Amino acid sequence: MAAITVHSPQEAQGEYREMLVRLMTRQFYAETATAEVFGRSIACAPTLREKFLAAEFASEEADHSERLCKLFRELGIDPEEVHRARPSAAQFWSLDLDNWLQIAVFNFTVDRAGSHQIMEYRDSSYLPWAMEMGAVLADEEGHYDNGIENLREFARDKAVFAEFQRVYADMLPVTLKRAFGRPSGIDNDYCVAVGLKRHTTEEIVNNYLAEMLGYMRECGLKFPPLAAFDKIGAELLPSTRAILLSNQ
Ligand SMILES: [Fe+2]
Ligand SMILES: [Fe+2]
Repeated sequence: MAAITVHSPQEAQGEYREMLVRLMTRQFYAETATAEVFGRSIACAPTLREKFLAAEFASEEADHSERLCKLFRELGIDPEEVHRARPSAAQFWSLDLDNWLQIAVFNFTVDRAGSHQIMEYRDSSYLPWAMEMGAVLADEEGHYDNGIENLREFARDKAVFAEFQRVYADMLPVTLKRAFGRPSGIDNDYCVAVGLKRHTTEEIVNNYLAEMLGYMRECGLKFPPLAAFDKIGAELLPSTRAILLSNQ
């Protein structure tokens, strides 16, 4: 299929529109659920500085959500209706929203997974969506900087870091499964063929893990064993397994 560009909501039709709405819905679920995670974490953040940051991140995630509301309305879809079908934030991310350590791991792990998807959407063939994502990614850089800073801070205390490692080992397999979906299949092929994404899910996941790996090595954080991914049914291609095995 030749590369296409879709300039307006009216031009998005049929199978293309269906897939577009599916991907946007997934991002909308993630943005709105993440806004709630950060909003709630104001209460459990240990310092004033971290409370202010949590409030700032919550507001930014709400802005990301609003951008998607606008895109849904342009497509004739009621964002309230999309939102109503979303599971609760705690359920969606399998997270205890009142546990600061879990929030810190979430910030380093889950929030960044979303950014790697958004990098694809910024270059999407659906231009109205692509145009909104530059500002979103700029905010997300700040969120990840904070996630890395948290990781370094937790790494200074051996006992606390062991707990960080334990939570991370639970959270990463769920993230791979929930945030990226299946690494192969016809849906993936279709997204790449019509330019809704520019890379395969395999490449996106591997980029995400490779970026993370640099910071993990610096702090001594390890990937969970492959069995942890198999246990929850997170499908891994050989190239992804190799990255995970490189830091056990
Ligand atoms: Fe976001
Ligand atoms: Fe974020």
